[in-house]
This record gives sequence, C-alpha cells and structure tokens, in this order.
Amino acid sequence: MSTPVKKVPIHLQSAQNRLLIKNGKVVNEDDIVEEDVYIEDGIIKQLGRNLIIPGGTRVIDARGKLVIPGGIDPHTHFEFEFMNTTSVDDFYQGTKAAVAGGTTMIIDFVLVKKGESLLDSYYSYRQKADEKVCCDYALHVIISYWNDKVFDEMSILCSEHGVNSFKTFMAYSFMLNDSELYSAFEACKKLGAVAMVHAENGSIVFKNTEKLLAKGVTGPEGHELSRPEEVEAEAVNRACTIANQVDCPLYIVHVMSKSATIALAQARSRGVRVIGETLAAALGTDGSHCKNTCFQHSAGHVLSPPLRSDPMTPQYLMNSLAQNDLQLTGSDNCTFNKSQKEMGLNDFSKIPNGVNGVEDRMSVIWEKGVHSGLIDACRFVAITSTTAAKIFNLYPRKGCIALGSDADIVIWNPNKTRTISAKTHHQAVDFNIFEGMECHGVPEYVIVNGRVCVDDEQVKVVQGHGNYIECPVFPPFVYDIENASKLKPSDNGDANWVTQPTQKENDRKV
Ligand code: URP
Ligand code: ZN
Ligand code: ZN
Ligand code: ZN
Repeated sequence: MSTPVKKVPIHLQSAQNRLLIKNGKVVNEDDIVEEDVYIEDGIIKQLGRNLIIPGGTRVIDARGKLVIPGGIDPHTHFEFEFMNTTSVDDFYQGTKAAVAGGTTMIIDFVLVKKGESLLDSYYSYRQKADEKVCCDYALHVIISYWNDKVFDEMSILCSEHGVNSFKTFMAYSFMLNDSELYSAFEACKKLGAVAMVHAENGSIVFKNTEKLLAKGVTGPEGHELSRPEEVEAEAVNRACTIANQVDCPLYIVHVMSKSATIALAQARSRGVRVIGETLAAALGTDGSHCKNTCFQHSAGHVLSPPLRSDPMTPQYLMNSLAQNDLQLTGSDNCTFNKSQKEMGLNDFSKIPNGVNGVEDRMSVIWEKGVHSGLIDACRFVAITSTTAAKIFNLYPRKGCIALGSDADIVIWNPNKTRTISAKTHHQAVDFNIFEGMECHGVPEYVIVNGRVCVDDEQVKVVQGHGNYIECPVFPPFVYDIENASKLKPSDNGDANWVTQPTQKENDRKV
C-alpha cells in the first residue's frame, strides 16, 4: 500500500493568503522584538516596521499583545486504541481543540500492536489523520516488540516516510525487556532517530496491582499506590543506563515526579544525553484528585505515570523547566469519557489511562510559569514550541518567527483571562482536569499555515487544513556530532547540549 497523497486544500485560494500582524511584540526563544509580521501563502515573508505590502492585505492589530510561535505539542494520542477502548478526541476534534488553545502542530503516536507491521500501522494512521487534521502533524511510531524486521521497517519509515522518532514502553502489555530496549535504542542511534521511552517498571506495577486488589483496594486511589515515584525513577535510571551503553541520546516522555526528575539529573551529571518532557497535567493539577469520592472526578485524573500525591510536585516540575532540568512540555492528551473510565469501576487497573491537555497546555503553562513570575515569555516559547521543533528536526521551519518559517503564529493577550471548563472546551471528552482554573493569557488569534483559524477568539478551523510534516533524521539538536563537547554536563550539572541554541533563527534559506 502506498502513502496517501495529500489533497490541495481549496480554501487556501483566498484573500487570506496575505496577512499583516501590526504593532505587536514578536517573541522567540532568545529575543523579544517590536516588529510587524507579513505573511503570504502560509510563509513569513517580511519582518520589521513600516513594511511595504500589497493592497488588500488583511491587517490584524496586535498592539499590547505578544506574537509568538504556535505551540507544538509533541505528545498526543488521538483515536488511540488502548486498554480495550479508543480515546474520544479524534484527529479532527483533537486538532481543533489544539488550535483553539494556541497549538498549531501536534505529534501523535502510531500504535503498533505486537507482531503487526510498523509500516501498515503508519499507513493506517495517515489514512485516519490526513483528512481530519486542522493543523500540521507528524508521527512517532511505537515499538512494541523486537526482531530484525522491526529494524528494517524503522529504517524505511525514516528514509521514506519522515518518521524520526520511536517510542518504547517499560510498562503496559507492550513493554519491552532490557535486552529489547537495548536493541531498539541501538537501532535509533544507527538511524539517527530520537529514542523515546515511557519509564515505569511494569513488572513492579503488575505485582503491586495484584497485591492491592487482593487487599480490596479497588478504587482510583490504588492507581498511584501501584506505581509510586520510585517505580518511575528506577525506570528512568535504567533507561538512561541502557541508552548510554549504546551511546544513544534519549527522550523521556511524561516525567511526572520529583524522584524521576532527580534520576534524570543524576544520569545527566554522569554524561548521559537525556531530554525530559513533562506535561501540562503534571504542572496544572495533582494526585489529590484521585482520592475524590466522585468516581468520574477521581478516575478522570488517572494517567500513567500518575499525578503525584506530593503536593509540591507541580511547583517542583515548573522550577525544573525554568532551570532547564526539564526541557519541554507536552499534553499526552488521551481522553476517555465517563462511560469508558467506568470500565474500571471495580478495579483501578482497568480504568483507561489518560487525560486532556492539548487545548489548555499553553494557558496552564503561561499561568503557572509566566504569570507566576517564574519564567519569561522567551522561556515559555522554548518549552511550548521551539525545543520540540529542534528535537524533531523541524526548526527553523517551525518553532520560531523568522523569515521563511511557516506562518504558525499566535497573538497572545497576556492581560485577558479565561476560566477552563468542560462546558466550554472544544474537546470531545466530557471532563476537564483543569476545571475552574482561571488562566491569564488568551490566544486571541491563531494562524495556522497562514490561515486565521482563531479569529478574535472565534474558532474557525478547517478540517483537513493541516499537512503531514516529514521529520528528517539526525536532528542537530540531538545528534550534534561536531559539538560533541557540548554533550558533557558543565560543572554546575547543567547539560549544555540541551541549553545551546544550534543557530540563530533567521538563517533559514528562503
Ligand atoms: O496514561 C497515559 N499516559 N496514557 C497514554 C498512553 C501513554 O502511556 O502515554
Ligand atoms: Zn506513556
Ligand atoms: Zn467531581
Ligand atoms: Zn502518551
């Protein structure tokens, strides 16, 4: 079967091809500049004040507002077949919600069932997603078993289909053992792909779950008890050790605890090249909700690794992002309705794991990071967009506002507030883990590939407007061979290789 061919979107042939954003402050990860942005045919064509532009161009006044790169969410699971059900946000509603919240690109995970073909699974995701996506997207592919054919298919995905990242699991039914992880990381290293890992000790989780259920602990509060921090930290340490043995840089998805963050820092201090992602969920709420007596509420907060009962966790993780001990944020959006969560009414281990976040990630991080005074707007851009673009080799096409970059732009009003609610969100799911949170920072306009898809807070997305984006292998940010010295941590324990911008934004060839 061949790769589906993308249709040319008809709606692009309109006056909306030209757009001028005037009077705003343009924020990139390294700078804030007062300049106007002129966009034509989905690309940033001019930057500066007093630009000469064609008549008939639509002008948006961004005075008093920030003009930022659209968010890139590197971790979503739309229509994910998981734990005997399917997540309810599909590629249409999931990307619509993403855009509504200021995210203009998502990277989802191709589920490959044990023994099935990686390529066939990839094709089936392309078929599901291409017609539905409201913004650009790329795909990671899950490695759920290991043999030589898996390597061959990984190689084809990298060379012919623009996949440059593979996720492995150390928990769940598709967990790999240490020797399989070793082979998978070795393969990633050989191909120049980004090795990603879900770090939890699945064997311990399984044993603990059996014990808890036998004791009669069946409710959602049993979820974290079965997978405490140490179980996450052990797996982080083991994954780092295995990756280091084959000299493969490693990306730890959803770092959820203080213990795991410390394990990651310790690995880095002994020279392991490791990137840590945390989630909007982990920054914006906590594990106390899993003890709520309302089942929809408690089960609605169940994901893995779990939200932690230590109430200091969100602040600790936010500080870690501020100090670059963690490098970026995703949502891990994987949503299930009340009726699906009720599959685990009498057994917490059957509650489908996953929460929302794709729509609210930007607002939650602005609130907890920038509004609280912990980080500035530049760091906000880095942890919500630029670093993801660099890791997955999309920079400077994505993740910055520069000449020649894709016009994926948000006009962000830091002075407006909104209150998050399942009643008003754009997601398919019937619950929101951030319910009632008041957030400063509202995406007033969201421009996706040059098209205004949120217009003065009115969501006007177009199904199929997004494109599949190919991610080339050997991202310089991850595989920076020439700057190998940067890969070593500095005296203060910071990993310089993740702090150094590889180049100034404005050097994209146009
Ligand atoms: O609970 C979670 N995180 N659900 C989504 C699947 C995964 O492990 O990322
Ligand atoms: Zn995971
Ligand atoms: Zn409730
Ligand atoms: Zn996930």
